[in-house]
Amino acid sequence: MKCRGRGLFLVFLLVLFFNSGLSAETGEFEVDQFISPDVCGDCHTDIYSQWENSMHNLSHRDPVYEAVSAFLLKGLSDKDEIAEAESCVKCHTPVGFVTGNPKKRSDDLNKVPDIAKQGIQCDYCHSAVSVEKMYNNGLQLSPGHGEDDPGIKRGPFDDSESDFHDSEFSELHTKADICGTCHDVKHVVFKTDLETTYQEWKKGPYNSRNPKKRITCQGCHMYQRPGVPATGSTERPANPGYASDDGPERDHIFTHYFVGGNGFIPGNFKDKEKTIMAEQRLKNAASISIDSKKIRKGKLKIKVTNSGAGHYLPTGLTDFRQMWLEVTVKDGKGKELYASGKLDKNGYVPEDAVIYNTIFGDGKGNPVVNISKAREVIKDKRIKPLKTVKETFKLPKGLKGDLIVKVRLLYRSAPQKLLDMVLGKGTISFPVITMTEAETKI
Ligand code: HEC
Ligand code: HEC
Ligand code: HEC
Ligand code: HEC
Ligand code: HEC
Repeated sequence: MKCRGRGLFLVFLLVLFFNSGLSAETGEFEVDQFISPDVCGDCHTDIYSQWENSMHNLSHRDPVYEAVSAFLLKGLSDKDEIAEAESCVKCHTPVGFVTGNPKKRSDDLNKVPDIAKQGIQCDYCHSAVSVEKMYNNGLQLSPGHGEDDPGIKRGPFDDSESDFHDSEFSELHTKADICGTCHDVKHVVFKTDLETTYQEWKKGPYNSRNPKKRITCQGCHMYQRPGVPATGSTERPANPGYASDDGPERDHIFTHYFVGGNGFIPGNFKDKEKTIMAEQRLKNAASISIDSKKIRKGKLKIKVTNSGAGHYLPTGLTDFRQMWLEVTVKDGKGKELYASGKLDKNGYVPEDAVIYNTIFGDGKGNPVVNISKAREVIKDKRIKPLKTVKETFKLPKGLKGDLIVKVRLLYRSAPQKLLDMVLGKGTISFPVITMTEAETKI
């Protein structure tokens, strides 16, 4: 019996060891080492109000994340799949994770310390000192010891002084790496690429040696402000001002709205400004053109260009995000002769639409919805930065008379089908945003 007990203990140790990809840094720090964003906000008023209700601030409370992550855990029995389904909190509740509560997704998310509920926050990012690996959040931290001894806050200035905290220039904060380590996500066991925003940027034209062409993540996302979409196809003017309520005027203050394509979640927390900013970002990301020369022979050609995103279009959670083409051909009287990509009565994108997304598989070529089961990528159809793709639509042959062709590139943060499944039919529906459109009369 004794021997068997020891054997079990060994198995237990081994399990701990092999799961260490998930739990290596959990509990590394004490929760009172971290300072609440509210305290930072006392002096950094503007930056705080930009960050408040951003996707980063909401990463733990985001109701779609909460529901999806709970859903993924249901009915799993394979330990590798469970390890993935438990891993979410490392990025979505990072202060909680490094202080040991929550350790895993199935812990009670309501019982985590209040500071952890504030998501990806000031003292987390500004305590970062290095990156251990460029995926699954490899940030290494050196926080202070709470408000009485705040320690060093690291950032872009080499001459910054504050009575409250020490300051230090940090090259890491000026590089895409600080973003990339969380914005590249791999399955913790199968190592399937689940999100590849950083890799896409790294291999793309914006990671150029030529300083005139080089744009980091910060160069677009931390230049954006209301009225300034700051994409690859729009101006990205500097934002002169003050980093703190008292301090010198600076040539550029990096903004902290962290807006991508999702304006709905911030909007749900009553932050309409970010809803508009997300639309401005999406509306300056792509362009389309119609080639209707062969339309009477039954062929319509459309070109789509990723003109504004620093990574693939779309990027991030692209098994989830939807970007697709809606095409209609009408006659002179407005009668519809052909349509593709129109939402059905449930609000679902039809199966045969031209859609830019990713589909994961179970290792045998069958699609899976639960990313915990993602053993392979079976489809990755997206548009690289500054690249153009061509699509051909087959129309009925012999179309006569006046024709009006209308094409829209549409975006939605999540499929209605999935939301209906996870949250119950009709509970949430993300708006469909027109990124760009084109029309031609023949
Ligand atoms: C390595 C860091 C990391 C881990 C681990 C991680 N995520 Fe995320 N998650 C992200 C990033 C980055 C985004 C934003 C990407 C985008 O906008 O497309 C995101 C976005 C999401 C969203 C979209 C939220 C919305 O409202 O649009 C959901 C849902 C989500 N994650 C679920 C999960 C679940 C479930 C897990 C665990 C199985 C998980 N994530 C693990 C980094 C991570
Ligand atoms: C996701 C990580 C992240 C979060 C969260 C974050 N920051 Fe920053 N912050 C940065 C980065 C990166 C820079 C520098 C960008 C560069 O140099 O390219 C920066 C710059 C700054 C600066 C220098 C002035 C400026 O904006 O250029 C201050 C001050 C600052 N942040 C304070 C805050 C405060 C206060 C909060 C919380 C309300 C916060 N940050 C949240 C990453 C973050
Ligand atoms: C009592 C006021 C005060 C509080 C509270 C405060 N700061 Fe600051 N902070 C300042 C001042 C002043 C500066 C200098 C601004 C400048 O140099 O332009 C500064 C600069 C910074 C910088 C730039 C450092 C660099 O070298 O680039 C960062 C990052 C920063 N603060 C983060 C934080 C974070 C995170 C918190 C909360 C944990 C915080 N601050 C709380 C006053 C404060
Ligand atoms: C600690 C991990 C982490 C770091 C570091 C991080 N992010 Fe994020 N980011 C996330 C997660 C998780 C989400 C999704 C949050 C949610 O579901 O609400 C997100 C969301 C975003 C979004 C909104 C996406 C959307 O769909 O609208 C943008 C934009 C973004 N991050 C940019 C950045 C930039 C730029 C940096 C670097 C300065 C950065 N992130 C650093 C984890 C991180
Ligand atoms: C040249 C400008 C530019 C650069 C550089 C850039 N982005 Fe973006 N980003 C955009 C635009 C435009 C969008 C909106 C279109 C979209 O959703 O892809 C966007 C969207 C996003 C989204 C939301 C994607 C979604 O649809 O859910 C995330 C997350 C993001 N960016 C993160 C990053 C990170 C991390 C980096 C650096 C590795 C980066 N971005 C570099 C312009 C840029």
